[in-house]
Amino acid sequence: MAKNPKQSKTLPIYILNGPNLNLLGHREPEVYGTTTLAQIEAMCAAQAKSHGLAIVFRQSNREGEIVDHLQEARTSGSAVIINPAGYGHTSIAILDSIQALQLPVIEVHLSNIHRREPYRNHSYVSKGATGIVMGLGAQGYLRAVDAVAEILKVKT
Ligand code: DQA
Repeated sequence: MAKNPKQSKTLPIYILNGPNLNLLGHREPEVYGTTTLAQIEAMCAAQAKSHGLAIVFRQSNREGEIVDHLQEARTSGSAVIINPAGYGHTSIAILDSIQALQLPVIEVHLSNIHRREPYRNHSYVSKGATGIVMGLGAQGYLRAVDAVAEILKVKT
């Protein structure tokens, strides 16, 4: 498990969220549900805590900023959970940043992108992901936290 050498504590899980996810709860609730991003953050923090882990939770509408957050996770995180949102379908830059991480990466989508429009069926991020959770709504983030906790435990 990745430790901070100074504190010998597991580094936080970086939970990164792409464009328009700041609108969760209001944006197409029939597709994405009524849970807000702030509620998802609180749920993830509690779930991580139950595993003895901490989180860093971010959202950005800008591709380059997500790249910056992934680069930060490289040195300051123990794993990444990412819902790349629309950028999952378009961004080779985000895939490159993920492939530069030597960390477990779980890709999350609230909806099942394979049941949706053809342009949503492909995700570049999936090529770099350790695992993928989709179609479970906000609960999917919690299952991703559980998966990371399991993976980090196995690596200890
Ligand atoms: C999404 C699916 C994407 O196709 C979409 O662009 C999003 C959200 C999801 O969580 O289901 O913004 O990533």
